[in-house]
Amino acid sequence: MKQIVYYYSSKGSNRYLAKKISSDFNCEIEEIKPRLNSHFLMLMGINFGNRKIKSNIEDYDRIILCGPIWMGKFIIPLKNFVNKFNEKIKDLIFVTCCGSPFEKKDEKFGHNLIFNEVKSVLNAKCSHCEAFPITLVLPDELKNDTSAFMKTHLNDENFKGEIKTIYDNFINNIQK
Ligand SMILES: Cc1cc2nc3c(=O)[nH]c(=O)nc-3n(C[C@H](O)[C@H](O)[C@H](O)COP(=O)(O)O)c2cc1C
Repeated sequence: MKQIVYYYSSKGSNRYLAKKISSDFNCEIEEIKPRLNSHFLMLMGINFGNRKIKSNIEDYDRIILCGPIWMGKFIIPLKNFVNKFNEKIKDLIFVTCCGSPFEKKDEKFGHNLIFNEVKSVLNAKCSHCEAFPITLVLPDELKNDTSAFMKTHLNDENFKGEIKTIYDNFINNIQK
């Protein structure tokens, strides 16, 4: 099966995750680059589209799309990507390193809302969604501390324990 990872990352955690997946799957990786890479303006809904991607989506049996969640939204660069290539996508797995923990996944800023949106845009072509909440790498006393998770980014030092177990299960399950 020919696979590729596409990712957008502002602070680096989703880049880290995307690179790890591409390395474990031994597959290609390409960054999604918005024409206007302003966090603030994208949050305001200002959308100038993405730069052209280099790879040809039709060549791939499966796409792994990786990126963050902001303000309970499916962020503009990822939404642009899915809308533009919807017809060409055969199978897509959505992966996010986000802030919302599993116990808050259905709340206003929870990752499940975005998973439902991706599934509704792509219908059956979205075969799986997986969240890697950044809170998993924080000590218990900081798990509810918003400023702590905003300052924390995935790296080789903190990618261990629970997040690593979830990641290994994810890799094993989708490889089957
Ligand atoms: C402005 C802003 C809004 C955010 N809103 C949410 C949110 O609604 N839900 C969530 O799960 N995480 C939220 N987060 C957390 C990010 O998804 C998380 O920090 C992510 O790991 C950042 O990815 P990156 O390092 O690849 O940019 C938000 C982060 C920022 C900066």
